[in-house]
Amino acid sequence: MDNDTLTAGHNLTSLQTFLISERSKYPHATGRYTMVLSALSLAGKFIAARCRRARLEDVLGAMGSDNVQGEAQQKLDVIANEALIRSLGSRPGVAVVASEEDDNPIVLSNDTSGERPYVVLFDPLDGSSNLDVCGSVGTIFSILLHDRRAEHVEESALQPGLRQVGAGYVLYGPSTVLVLTAGTGVQMFVLDPTIGSFLLVDDDVRIPEAGKSYSMNTANLGSCPEGYQRYVEWANGSGYSMRYAGAMVADVHRILMKGGVFLYPPTASAPSGKLRLMYECNPMAMLMEQAGGKSYSGTQRTMEIQPDALHQRVPVVLGSPDEVDHVLRHISS
Ligand code: AHG
Ligand code: MN
Ligand code: MN
Repeated sequence: MDNDTLTAGHNLTSLQTFLISERSKYPHATGRYTMVLSALSLAGKFIAARCRRARLEDVLGAMGSDNVQGEAQQKLDVIANEALIRSLGSRPGVAVVASEEDDNPIVLSNDTSGERPYVVLFDPLDGSSNLDVCGSVGTIFSILLHDRRAEHVEESALQPGLRQVGAGYVLYGPSTVLVLTAGTGVQMFVLDPTIGSFLLVDDDVRIPEAGKSYSMNTANLGSCPEGYQRYVEWANGSGYSMRYAGAMVADVHRILMKGGVFLYPPTASAPSGKLRLMYECNPMAMLMEQAGGKSYSGTQRTMEIQPDALHQRVPVVLGSPDEVDHVLRHISS
């Protein structure tokens, strides 16, 4: 087998190899960031395996309990949450974790004297209501550096998105895809379950400048501010298609790959929008901007919002720059 045949279309860079090579670019790197991403990758593989066997293991459906959001927790919400806390909790350098499923941040270490520890926020299972119907779900994560000025470590969890040092998601779909950024572009990996490794498939993901597709739950349209109604009317009249999976990770991934715009505006039942700033909108906003896209909440850049609560909800419009501009043109007129 000649060398070309061996490597043709065959990706030989694992996530671990990628992280080691990235770390070598920073002589003073301690390896703690690598440990955080390694923990997230391990949890992602664990969650992927549980999702694939959910119906077989009878872990579908609701727990019978609500989370801090007042939302019925799915059994796999709790399983995924525990997997992330256990994988991150055993790693040096993680000071605080904060989850959609827990009221308050969990302080893993008050020792802020050492290496600047990380704060990891996550939505352990996004779109979890899709599980029962074998729809795509995901995990979303955001990584901040501990803010030494914070009087208490947990206050470090409330920093604007511009302070993120990393962000990403795992999409549990027909394949398991890891998309991440550390602020120098966006990389995409696909899990090869036969060897248990995430393999690099794109080391510089760029979102198309435009794409005639919007993703929104248009059942809410009647209660959205008029500008959003005018945008949808314009888009429908301009030959746009509408695609909506009901899981932010699935909808955002489609837009990252094909172009378009994702919107969750203010609605009657969610006057500030439904999606959470700290562990849904901020990480997706970082990914979008790093891939050449945009993310706004109302007419404010999402990552500039100064958070005042861990589970704060914001409206969001994100995706291709031209498509976000079309929405902004309608909602700010
Ligand atoms: P989660 O399952 O983490 O609560 O997130 C669900 C979110 C998000 O994934 C999706 O974009 C949105 O809810 C869908 O909301 P609607 O069902 O109101 O359209
Ligand atoms: Mn979610
Ligand atoms: Mn969730």
